[in-house]
Amino acid sequence: MSNSVRIELRPYGRSIEVERGTPLRDVLYIYGVEFPCGGRGRCKRCRVQAVEGNLSITPDEAAILSDEEREQGWRLACRSLAQEPVVLQLEQFQVPILADHSAFDFEPRPGFGVAVDLGTTTVVAQLVDLETGRVRACDTALNPQAAYGSDIMTRTQLALQEAGRQKLAAVVRQGIGALVGRVIATAGLEQAPIDTVVLVGNTVMHHLFCELDVEPLARVPFESDHDGLQEFQASDLRWEVRGDPRVRFLPCLGGFVGSDLLAGILATRMHERDEPSLLIDLGTNGEIVVGNAERMLCASTAAGPAFEAGGIEMGMQATTGAIDQVTVVDGGLICHTIADAAPRGICGSGLVDAVAAGLELGWVEPSGRLEEGRKILNLSGPVHLTQGDLRQLQLAKGAIAAGIRILLDRWGAGPHEVSRVNLAGAFGNYVNRESARRIGLIDFPDESVDPVGNSALLGAKLTLFAKDRAAFEYRDVLARVEHVSLASDRSFQQIFVREVRFPD
Ligand code: FES
Repeated sequence: MSNSVRIELRPYGRSIEVERGTPLRDVLYIYGVEFPCGGRGRCKRCRVQAVEGNLSITPDEAAILSDEEREQGWRLACRSLAQEPVVLQLEQFQVPILADHSAFDFEPRPGFGVAVDLGTTTVVAQLVDLETGRVRACDTALNPQAAYGSDIMTRTQLALQEAGRQKLAAVVRQGIGALVGRVIATAGLEQAPIDTVVLVGNTVMHHLFCELDVEPLARVPFESDHDGLQEFQASDLRWEVRGDPRVRFLPCLGGFVGSDLLAGILATRMHERDEPSLLIDLGTNGEIVVGNAERMLCASTAAGPAFEAGGIEMGMQATTGAIDQVTVVDGGLICHTIADAAPRGICGSGLVDAVAAGLELGWVEPSGRLEEGRKILNLSGPVHLTQGDLRQLQLAKGAIAAGIRILLDRWGAGPHEVSRVNLAGAFGNYVNRESARRIGLIDFPDESVDPVGNSALLGAKLTLFAKDRAAFEYRDVLARVEHVSLASDRSFQQIFVREVRFPD
């Protein structure tokens, strides 16, 4: 037996190799894990969760952790030893998950419903009183499929095999079933029947939850015939929910544009306006919709993981110690880190800020090259950007900017005619608009750019109020949206190459 074991740290995104039997406390402090009670096993603030593999439990841990915590694999890092390979979720670095608490108009009806936004990384659920429109409970979780690959392509590859498809459907159904159970319990409604559950998500999440064939999503032209509304009874999914509610996964808009964007259209009401507006979800798979009350076009573009700081040498998720803001002061850089902790890496919003600042100071050239003589862009402490990091951001922003340009051209509007640019999702919520414009990512006036938070969840909530299928507002929207395949647009490559440059 090898004398070393591998520990994967989430959401930090690092793997370390340690000698078997090493106390976790000896290695985790290097990664910024704090031990508030000095490791005496009293505060529980050093909790880690073994999401894969096992950490044995000591009697004093068993005394302080609840039955549920123990069953879910929670342990105290100050008490645990690394005896076997394990994937650890570090509680101190939990990723903040964007929910939705905006006011909305609705037609009251009796009953309760649950809206779920199923993201590639995270899941959020809200229990809504359909009579009052009040959110009675909200809870979040990490997508349990992450144990089988953090990105959608890895999971799609796994789901090409029958066994992989079944596995991915089973874990996500079980995870969401538990989440739905938790919001019901939090609201104290265990005895009340639930009327309906509505899920939204990107196209791959839709297919994986519904256990559909993903093969069409793995080859050109990336169009699936089964991307419509999918319906189940809760009991079909092995969810024990009073009332055995209907569970609906809303339809995708086409290609890789999922029901998260369909719900975003409902939430932003862009389908009711006369003037054209844009809805953009900036992620590994950038999703874009342009249009008005008459006509809408949508497309997706493979931006790569740079906006989530993936593929960036010192990239990390937006958690403790990530540089999330960079500003220019007196010819130098001032970096802010999340929780004011020592800098450990950089997240997506920090990356956009840092490159915008580098352009401002002339340290980064419009071509994307670092100025002559500069090998890296030093930010704060050990955190820096390399030439390769700049390239990753250029490719991501080039793909999004080219997608926007082509959709606007096809729709027949110039950028100055767009009345509103709605930025959906976490990155769109946190990115600095001025920096996004400086790097040429969102080249619209600040006053027209509007972060709309978790519009997918809001759109799912709005759908809960429909009495039956005929009342679904999204049916009108679907009839007006046309999907554009950017992969087959002959001008894409040319525009993309032009958009890869930063503005002068
Ligand atoms: S540091 Fe307090 S319980 Fe571990």
